[in-house]
Amino acid sequence: MIDTIKQHIAELTDFYTESAEELEVFRIKYMSKKNGIVTNLFNEFRNIPNDQKKEFGQILNQLKALVETKLETLKTKVEDKSAQKPDLDLSLEAYSRPLGTRHPLSIVRNQIIDIFARIGFTISEGPEIEDDWHNFSALNFPEEHPARDMQDTFFVSDKNVLLRTHTSNGQIRVMETQKPPIRIILPGRVFRNEAVSARAHCIFHQIEGLYIDKNVSFADLKQTLMYFAKEFFGEQTKIRLRPSFFPFTEPSAEMDVTCSICQGKGCNVCKHSGWLEILGCGMVDPNVLENCKIDSKKYTGFAFGMGIERITMLKYGINDLRLFFENDLRFLKQF
Ligand code: PHE
Repeated sequence: MIDTIKQHIAELTDFYTESAEELEVFRIKYMSKKNGIVTNLFNEFRNIPNDQKKEFGQILNQLKALVETKLETLKTKVEDKSAQKPDLDLSLEAYSRPLGTRHPLSIVRNQIIDIFARIGFTISEGPEIEDDWHNFSALNFPEEHPARDMQDTFFVSDKNVLLRTHTSNGQIRVMETQKPPIRIILPGRVFRNEAVSARAHCIFHQIEGLYIDKNVSFADLKQTLMYFAKEFFGEQTKIRLRPSFFPFTEPSAEMDVTCSICQGKGCNVCKHSGWLEILGCGMVDPNVLENCKIDSKKYTGFAFGMGIERITMLKYGINDLRLFFENDLRFLKQF
């Protein structure tokens, strides 16, 4: 009997738990009034021969004391455990979530739109999939014009459905549906069948302006573009217009600005000329107005169009057009 108690004591010494359920099982096993090991042993006491009673009593008390201290100390462990703070610590510093940035082309497009919005231009957009009429014919491209060639244009189904090669299709769509005065800016994506390189891409972006009213003159065009150049590239910027040709404007011009990188002194970007070509423009050809049923005797207008990629490259000193479309975060993060 005494040996059994010693065995219990040996077993008990290593008992450890932090679980409330396990501790309760332990309590019942040893201390339950009905059938608990310690209780039963006390009930045995009277059957123990008198000469062994003293030793039995001592060792039994030792067992009982051990069970009680176990219950006591493990109870505090269980309580500590359940009182432990949850994993969520609201005082910790928050993880920083990296925010995306706007694409450089969007930044520049928005800046250009803002500049023209300040002088009364509103935004309009034409479709990217277009018919021959709106992309070419109404814009006074002759039937045999080389731009219609497979070399330059992506045709969708037949020769009549194509991906627009410029935003000028939007001019026609607006003039067909609105009466002058018209003062709009047309941003958008355009497509040309060109080999992709650092300087050319089959997809790029343009922004087009159109102003139709009575008595609109070339002086208005020049003044508007000068305002734009100074707003975008800085007050010191000068412009120059060189004669050019577009089927839909007459007369036509290309506009240069003084190089914003070397301030006109001459550098690699402006090929040491001090000037950068940034857009095409001109007075809307009377044929185009008539194609849209606008009386060319009563109304005149000007139009201009520029490549957003080119302007963005000049603004940020980017030398490879392909970077805009590769979505490399190391590039995009810089804006
Ligand atoms: N559409 C012309 C181009 O793509 C640009 C332009 C627009 C020129 C309007 C004159 C007037 O090159």
